[in-house]
Amino acid sequence: MLSLQRLYLTIALMALASAASAQTPKPIDPDKRAAALVKQMTPEERNLLLHGYFSRPNKLRATPLPGAPWAAGYTPGIARLGIPALAETDASLGVAWINGKRAQPATALPSSLSLASSWDVKIAYAGSAAIAQDARASGMNVLLAGGTNLTRELRNGRNFEYLGEDPLLSGVMAGETIRAIQDQHVLSTVKHYALNAQETWQNNIAVDIAEAAARESDLLAFEIAIERGNPGAVMCAYNHFNGPYSCGSDMLLNQVLKQDWKYPGFVMSDWGANHATADALAGLDRESGQEFDSQVYFGAPLAALDGKDAAYTARITDMNQRILRSMAAVGLFEDPPKVGAPDIARGEAAARAEAAAGTVLLKNNGVLPLAKGAKKILVVGGYANIGVMSGGGSSQVAPAGGPALSIPTTYAADDWMATVLHPGAPAKAIAARAGAAARVTFDNGQYPAFAATKAKDADIVIVFATQWTSEGMDVPDLSLPGNQNELIAAIAAANPRTVVVLETGGPVTMPWLDKTAAVLEAWYPGIKGAEAIADILFGDVNPSGHLPITFPASLDQTPRPNLDGLYDTDPGKLRVNYDIEGSDVGYRWYARKSLTPLFAFGHGLSYTTFRYDDLILRSEGNVLRATFTVTNTGTRQGRDTPQVYVTARGKMKGQRLIGWGNVDLAPGASQKITVEADPRLLADWLTPRHRWLLPAGRYDVTVNSSAVSPQLNASTALETRLLPP
Ligand code: BGC
Repeated sequence: MLSLQRLYLTIALMALASAASAQTPKPIDPDKRAAALVKQMTPEERNLLLHGYFSRPNKLRATPLPGAPWAAGYTPGIARLGIPALAETDASLGVAWINGKRAQPATALPSSLSLASSWDVKIAYAGSAAIAQDARASGMNVLLAGGTNLTRELRNGRNFEYLGEDPLLSGVMAGETIRAIQDQHVLSTVKHYALNAQETWQNNIAVDIAEAAARESDLLAFEIAIERGNPGAVMCAYNHFNGPYSCGSDMLLNQVLKQDWKYPGFVMSDWGANHATADALAGLDRESGQEFDSQVYFGAPLAALDGKDAAYTARITDMNQRILRSMAAVGLFEDPPKVGAPDIARGEAAARAEAAAGTVLLKNNGVLPLAKGAKKILVVGGYANIGVMSGGGSSQVAPAGGPALSIPTTYAADDWMATVLHPGAPAKAIAARAGAAARVTFDNGQYPAFAATKAKDADIVIVFATQWTSEGMDVPDLSLPGNQNELIAAIAAANPRTVVVLETGGPVTMPWLDKTAAVLEAWYPGIKGAEAIADILFGDVNPSGHLPITFPASLDQTPRPNLDGLYDTDPGKLRVNYDIEGSDVGYRWYARKSLTPLFAFGHGLSYTTFRYDDLILRSEGNVLRATFTVTNTGTRQGRDTPQVYVTARGKMKGQRLIGWGNVDLAPGASQKITVEADPRLLADWLTPRHRWLLPAGRYDVTVNSSAVSPQLNASTALETRLLPP
């Protein structure tokens, strides 16, 4: 039987398949094509693709260039050579709304943390292909997507744009989103390269981390995403990396990305992240949103060096080659975007499947799924009578019909950080499911004592709690803002049948947890969030999301309990020491410190139960393979994500995710799963030898239902090995 969640995924994928069949084949040799074009360029043309314009109304630019759409970026093409313009839109969650200026609607996907909670590459593909088709319908051929920064700072206002704390999960999911976008002939970035983990003093912060730790964590996430997705561009980040700015880092750009990973595409700066013409020599290929930089470094100053300085001349040839190579490889020459009405239904089907798969049931004492016969349902708070929360900043999307509510953050007309609720009121979706015999009422939760009085009288109370986060700021702590903790505590004290639905940018603390009956983490659930939440509450969809990020008991458990720079007034001095945790990001830090989190990485409940059996572990050369069986031991169809971790390598203890399975099982059914570990996940980066080394000895492996819940274990021996370069 096809579950409802799978049904929406199937609809989205079928729509894509029919759209894809109309597409033209990719051109053959992008390198040769690019080289031929570069050869034909006049000296003046050699500078045109190397610096892009900001293309939207604000204080920096009142109108876009002639012919350019409202967008994040625009680089005019060269008509004489048949080179199309690059029209660049944000971002990973859909075609950005440009402060409400874009007339065309677009699919608002759930947050990337929601996507990562699905642990499902098919879900990733369907959603990102849909937004790429929206981008084409808006006349865009570049999506500034592929947010891949690991969560090192839980208060980071942009965590919702990223895929959590694990390099394998982040890399695989990001790679799949990029692959999906580019299959639609829209060039995708992967961003923000690298270690760009907080917004406070984002433009000035100096990040320090040992090379080996970076290679085994954040850089590995990018490496995997790039291998899997082949993004046309890498967007370098705002922060300094071990000294220089990321966009001027020879180490990050020339050495790691281009030499070690053999990346053939181009590096574009983040908007305002280019600080010198010499960044070209460090490996930066394109200055973006040039109005944001203190001067246009890659315009006249770079052109003046062409033909006069051998190093710059060679680089300018290479910069053009890389940009054109990516454009050709992705199919931008043959298949330009066609402006038209986007296929809203297809996008919404993908968004709904994603929200259903990404919602995580954190706690359930049996109250969920709700019995259809409940008579008096009280819905409280979280704007649940209006819509669902979304994250602010450049990634903000305006769905069909515009926002359900937009609360300005500033008094400026150009308010890029507004608090936006997407349409679809959860209270209405709940009322529709509850049936004619039920009475569903709503209280906005402003006065906890008042709401608690109403709660006493209800059969069930569903409290919605929201945490708005945004690019441009971090949150000061992990408490739900305003009076929401007080509200939930008061309601739970009045009625033990209290279900909490969280719409948050990332982890929050839950001082009321013990008093509640169930907790659902819906993240920012996107345009079909209300439906997806109601589907899960009433059991039309069996929840299957698993956390891609650890929820700490308190910030004291994290490597940096105080947020770096939050109260500093001198950003020039700001340094963040990532060597505290090194490559032990997230659950690996908790394992190392023997800390018990509130909810562990990988945690997620279902309305059915699963059992794991018969683990067989084999090693062949560098490859470690785990095979085991999953059985649905409950009474409902359900989807599970068993996770495989290595917990000891040779003499070293330490936990690393090495793979996972996705199974959809009917009650009583079993399925065999094989997970093959990428050898880099078993290895250590040896900086002096510039290679990955597998230590010799026994490797202990567990099969878990979360990072802290091993169900099976086995060991095998591996010989010491240097992995090929
Ligand atoms: C963000 C990028 C975004 C760019 C263009 C920057 O502020 O960091 O993620 O793609 O703006 O809007």
